[in-house]
Amino acid sequence: MTEISASDLTLEEKASLTSGADFWTTKAIDRVGLPSIMMTDGPHGLRKQAGGTDHLGLASSVPATCFPPAVGIGSSFDPDLLERVGAAIGVEAAIEDVAVVLGPGINIKRSPLCGRNFEYFSEDPLVSGVLGAAAVRGVQSQGVGTSLKHFAANNQEFDRMRASSDVDPRPLHEIYLRGFERVVTDAQPWTVMCSYNRINGVYASEDPWLLTQVLRDDWGFEGLVVSDWGAVNDRVAGVAAGLDLEMPSSGGRTDAQLVAAVQAGDLAESVLDTAAARVIDLARKAGERPAVEGPLDVDAHHALAREAASRSIVLLKNEDAILPLAREQRIAVIGAFATEPRFQGAGSSLINPTRVDAALDALTEIGGDNVTYAAGFAVEGGAVAASGRSADDLRAEAVDAASAAEIAVVFLGLPAAEESEGFDRDHIDLPAVQLELLDAVVAANPRTVVVLSNGGVVALPFADRVPAIVETWLLGQAGGGAVADVLFGAVNPSGKLTETVPVRLEDNPSFGNFPGEFGHVRYGEGILVGYRWYDAKGLDVTFPFGHGLSYTSFSYGDAEVTVREDGDLGVRVDVTNIGDRDGREIVQVYAAPVRSAVQRAPRELKAFASVALDAGETRTVKLVVRREDLAYWDVRVDRWIVEGGEYTIDVAASSRDIRSSVVAEVEGDTVALPLTLASSIGDVVAHPIAGPIVMQALGDLMGGLTEADSSAASMMPNDEAMQKMMASFPIGRLIGFPGVDVTHEQIEQLLAGANAGA
Ligand code: BGC
Repeated sequence: MTEISASDLTLEEKASLTSGADFWTTKAIDRVGLPSIMMTDGPHGLRKQAGGTDHLGLASSVPATCFPPAVGIGSSFDPDLLERVGAAIGVEAAIEDVAVVLGPGINIKRSPLCGRNFEYFSEDPLVSGVLGAAAVRGVQSQGVGTSLKHFAANNQEFDRMRASSDVDPRPLHEIYLRGFERVVTDAQPWTVMCSYNRINGVYASEDPWLLTQVLRDDWGFEGLVVSDWGAVNDRVAGVAAGLDLEMPSSGGRTDAQLVAAVQAGDLAESVLDTAAARVIDLARKAGERPAVEGPLDVDAHHALAREAASRSIVLLKNEDAILPLAREQRIAVIGAFATEPRFQGAGSSLINPTRVDAALDALTEIGGDNVTYAAGFAVEGGAVAASGRSADDLRAEAVDAASAAEIAVVFLGLPAAEESEGFDRDHIDLPAVQLELLDAVVAANPRTVVVLSNGGVVALPFADRVPAIVETWLLGQAGGGAVADVLFGAVNPSGKLTETVPVRLEDNPSFGNFPGEFGHVRYGEGILVGYRWYDAKGLDVTFPFGHGLSYTSFSYGDAEVTVREDGDLGVRVDVTNIGDRDGREIVQVYAAPVRSAVQRAPRELKAFASVALDAGETRTVKLVVRREDLAYWDVRVDRWIVEGGEYTIDVAASSRDIRSSVVAEVEGDTVALPLTLASSIGDVVAHPIAGPIVMQALGDLMGGLTEADSSAASMMPNDEAMQKMMASFPIGRLIGFPGVDVTHEQIEQLLAGANAGA
């Protein structure tokens, strides 16, 4: 592609370039040799539609490898794995001549009810940001672009195209934007996809604050902003705000609006030039990728999907080392999901897999005749349902199988119809028929292992009644083999929870404020999202954030922390595999200031590492806590502020399994707000530079307020109480106060002097 610039194009051409040609492609402008490029979903595999097109996963697409969706692979906490999978998706896209894969999705799992949680990584922004950046790096390493989505605060499906996420500045920055910031600054995705919803009343697709000030000016985003499919509300306002490309095609309707707006002087042509230039630049980048010849190495990618799936599995519970299974054991496999796997979620990410492995086949391959099977229940739309057998009949058969076996492995999960893009769940319970089946099986054989398939968290009321629980989430097309690998111990499980499993939905922080009403959803829980809330409230959870077991165990030494020259914290800890199996541990570092001027969660994840350790091996694990990640968003100055002072640094195996704690002294940022007559005495005392000056002068001036105003003093139990009360007293109100011998001029003078000193 020869060098093309927006100035080579007519006004009409520029306008038309900033919306799609059809469902998946941009427009070509043959006159100047500008090619069209294709964008397709995403995120955990390719959904390239060759025939009918839609954005809801309805029409079929070319076969592609279905890797584990984010809910699964996120549990690996392993950016390297994400990068390898991303690179494989990039190769598949390149073979299909797709320029941009629409993903990753990194929205925060605010509520377990969000229908799209399976497409997202975590309730924690660091996990989302680090893994999202890795996914971007992986895909883009192949010369294929990504689309970081859905920007921003799109945390539910209900009314997603209109609802306003009403979020205060601190949670907006600290929880909902932070992961996006990380991905943009660390990995520069080629595109960012704005979300459907409104944020504090303004559509994301036409919000200059979001799309220009935050994304470009503050974070330095260099790529193109594309609308989510159909997210444009007012095209002219969108382009003015920083939305470069509307998708899919508007049939020319909104292009004409842009032309008219420029002609009427309502939109500067230079703004349209910028958007058009970004579309041209995207096509240029895509054109730089050398052609990649197929065919796809289906087996190699399936093997990678299996490895990724095995790393996605979280062993939640394993009493008396009931797992791994032994080949010689008589095993009753129960549950229709063992033959009809749920391996991905519905909607725009629905992939047409190159093949699908069922767990029963893979288990039988290893266990042979020792493995028996009973469906136990029917899954809507599946073969068991089609057989028309009654629930009683299926349950009775399963109970017989469990009684005759040494161990029962029961596959439970959410039916596909319960979780999808486009709507949310209204509860987190497994279907009653499955829970009843489990009760009957456990009664017949207490040595029962539960294997779960679900894209969103489910309540586990049986957690105390079964010896083992394996959370497999949705594992992609190779999940069946991966489950067998983990159950039989060929792979030692190593996944950990990127979201809390609550005891009850009612305990979740968004409960009562989800999904909102009349077009507004109030993020009333503020910064206390996920484990931050459960910890702050001291609530019991079924399994905490960061939890996950292994068939071996790990011991931790004493952590050491050093403050590096750049202000980042270097954390070192020796971790030893003290069992007799090789394994992998996800080491987590949490931090919290010992004292803070603002609300803080008891601890927040600030670094993590997935470390492979042979049996008996010790390794010194080195992690880095970025200084900027210690910051809170200061609403007074509208920027990140790191508070100075002591921070507790917890090195942990989960958010509730702290293995070593150290205190680090961190140098803080200065927030020097000018003092005014409205500043409280507390503000004055806290002012880093001006405070001491004013306080000294005040002390002299006031000559002891308590002494002079004995009536005020006598109201308070002691001097300390008096000081506390005075802390919120505006300094200007001292003027003329009985017994306080200080004039307006004197205070003004003091404040001016102090402010000048600052
Ligand atoms: C989804 C996006 C997706 C797009 C294109 C939208 O409905 O929200 O995630 O990339 O469709 O299919």
